[in-house]
Amino acid sequence: MYQLKNDRYIRAILRKPVDMTPIWIMRQAGRYLPEYKKIRAEFDNFLSICKNVDVACEISLQPLRRYNLDAAIIFSDILVVPDAMGLGLYFDEKKGPGFLYPVTCQADIKRLPIYDPEQELSYVMNIIRMICKNLKGSVPLIGFSGSPWTLAAYMVQNGSSKNFNKIKKIMYSDPIILHKMLDKITENIILYLNAQICAGINSIILFDTWGGILNYSAYREFSLYYLKKIAANVLRKNEISYIPTILFTKGCNQWLEDIADIGFDALGVDWGINIGDVRRRVGNKVAIQGNMDPSVLYASPQKIINEVKMILASYGKGSGHIFNLGHGINQDTAPENVSIFVDAVHNFSKQWH
Ligand code: CP3
Repeated sequence: MYQLKNDRYIRAILRKPVDMTPIWIMRQAGRYLPEYKKIRAEFDNFLSICKNVDVACEISLQPLRRYNLDAAIIFSDILVVPDAMGLGLYFDEKKGPGFLYPVTCQADIKRLPIYDPEQELSYVMNIIRMICKNLKGSVPLIGFSGSPWTLAAYMVQNGSSKNFNKIKKIMYSDPIILHKMLDKITENIILYLNAQICAGINSIILFDTWGGILNYSAYREFSLYYLKKIAANVLRKNEISYIPTILFTKGCNQWLEDIADIGFDALGVDWGINIGDVRRRVGNKVAIQGNMDPSVLYASPQKIINEVKMILASYGKGSGHIFNLGHGINQDTAPENVSIFVDAVHNFSKQWH
């Protein structure tokens, strides 16, 4: 375990004073970077990169060499959890992720195992240990998982979906069996995140990418309930420090008060809401991550800077803001624009602290 040299990200989540607003970028390691594409071209599939400890470590570090980011994130994917549960994950170049053995019936759900992450996901723990050795505490390392609901949606739909008809059919025709499935996924996620903490990560983010397709009562019953269980059961500290947690949701801004109440330290919000309004609504309960539209990075440098200034001003004075995009960075973003973005956040946030 290393003492952190730059702990701006951690301090901001804990709403302690900072000299400037910290920034990291969702999907900061990936296809908009030429150095990633160069490595990617040497492998036929994305999953074999995720399982290659040296390469995944190298890719995690790439964005930090280019930009003054305040955190690193492990290079992996939320779908390695269903893969470790025996579903046989693959990534199709055109169609995106899919499973050899998707969940199609009750018997499939009954068969889902509770795994040992130190066995089934040992490669992730090895990647974490290797990144930590390289970072030597220069910035915090973020670990992550998908939310139980988001993972269940992928496992039943067999990949991405437009209307999520299959999982909604189970949800409304046999909610008990869906709860059984979510219980197992939740248990596996807690084991996974606690193993990540033991391996050396400094913070956790949960991606509830598909919470926003539910109505209010279904969101509370099938997504929030399980996220609350996770917040209550992750270790929250290692030998030397507290491990702050962020919950990223998409399309859930109408339920911010509920989401702020379940025990995460920070909420990640999309760009569908003014960040000042988020702050007013959640008060002192949580810090806020976000929330620039990733498409702003297609604009001119001056427009990018203006947007950054506007978001900083909307948030206002004081700590508690972790700057980020409102969703993952687009793969056709110009890497030069990311430099302008990151530096603008640092330069123009000083006046607010
Ligand atoms: O830098 C980082 O943020 C770490 C890496 C990371 C990836 N995926 C790499 C990746 C993280 C944190 C994720 C999370 C993830 N994966 C989410 C949650 C966040 C979100 O975006 O809402 C979701 C829903 C997934 C599922 C997933 N992975 C899909 C739907 C796809 C295919 C579509 C796409 O964007 O290509 C992936 C593949 C994926 N995950 C890639 C990367 C870099 C592209 C694979 C490639 O290079 O060929």
